[in-house]
This record gives sequence, structure tokens and C-alpha cells, in this order.
Amino acid sequence: MRFLVMGASLRPGSFNVTLAELAASVLREGGVDVDLAAYAEFQVPGYDAGAEDGQGVPDGARRFAERLRSVDAFVLVSPEYNASVPGTVKNLVDWVSRLKPQPFWGHHGLLMSASPRLTGGNRGLWALRVPLEHLGARMFPEMISVAQADTAFTAGGLLVDPKQAKRMRQSITDFVALVSAVKSPA
Ligand code: FNR
Repeated sequence: MRFLVMGASLRPGSFNVTLAELAASVLREGGVDVDLAAYAEFQVPGYDAGAEDGQGVPDGARRFAERLRSVDAFVLVSPEYNASVPGTVKNLVDWVSRLKPQPFWGHHGLLMSASPRLTGGNRGLWALRVPLEHLGARMFPEMISVAQADTAFTAGGLLVDPKQAKRMRQSITDFVALVSAVKSPA
């Protein structure tokens, strides 16, 4: 199986990119082939409703859609802004949604977040899963949020707290098992 993993931040030293890299290494250890994408690859302008019917959808959104279509599942690791999903992330989802066939439809997804605050960005994930589910993505019920992210990672990008590391590994393993069961039913 092959999964797309993306940390949705451009910030140098991004906690969400660090978490995405950690998720990618856990997936690889579990035998999953990973396409680790950089958010910068999918920069798009603000949505323009003149681009209906797939005409005028920017290259960044087309590249994201192609990468999504070539994998069995995706992992989005997104910051929380103002108790919600960053407008930039929603904007990318909106552009991608205009392509046909609609690329999120039927795809399995796992959401993760990291934030220096105690909520760990979890409120942003609840906002992000709404449009994704609306688009027919099969979002994994569990969402992984790392709170106090400024002290949660070692210099090598691992989680300091072994209990949290174990829980994250378990959630990712469960997600892989679900996707595997659906893709290759016994
Ligand atoms: C934030 N941040 C933030 N954090 C949070 O947990 N809840 C929030 O509502 C917000 N709101 C917010 C708004 C804006 C405009 C910014 C720029 C930031 C802080 C945010 O979690 C922090 O900047 C993280 O470091 C962003 O993730 P990356 O870039 O480190 O991956």
C-alpha cells in the first residue's frame, strides 16, 4: 500500500511537518510505501468561482489531486488557526474539489495536528473533517493531536512522552489495518 502524507504548514521548523515526518516513518516501519509531500508543492491562489467545471483549476491543486489519486490513503497533518482549519488548507480542498472525478471521493484519510497549546490543534481537525467527509472521504474516527508541541518532540523529531508515542503508533497501525482490510478483503 502507498499513502500520501502531508504536513500543511510552510513555517520553517513547523511542528506539523515534524509530526508528518514522524507519521511517515511509523508508516514505513509498518510496511507502507509513503509519498511524503511538502505543502509548498501545492500553493494555490484564493478560490476563483470563475474556474467552474474544472477549467482554470491551478496547477498546485492538480498536482495534489494526482498525488491523491495515486495512493490508497492520505494523512493530513494540519495546524489549527483561530480554533478552526487554516484558510489556506480549506482553500486547497476547495480547489481540488472542483476536479472531476472528485479526488477525495472514497479515499481513506487520517487527520493529525500539533500545536503549542493544550488543545493540540484538535478543534481545527474537527473543522477539516467536515468538508472532507462532505466530499466523500472516509475519515478515520480517531484523530491524533499533539499538545504543547514546542516541548513534545526530541531534537530528532520523536515524541518525548513514551505513552503518547505508543498511542500515536497504535492509531496509525489501526488506520493501516482498516485501509488494508478494505483494499484487500480476506
Ligand atoms: C495560531 N495558533 C493557534 N494554535 C492553536 O492551538 N489554536 C488556535 O486557535 C491558534 N490560532 C492561530 C492563528 C494564527 C493566525 C496563527 C498564525 C497561529 C498557533 C499555532 O498552533 C502555531 O503557530 C503552530 O506552530 C502552527 O503550526 P506549525 O506551523 O508549527 O506547523
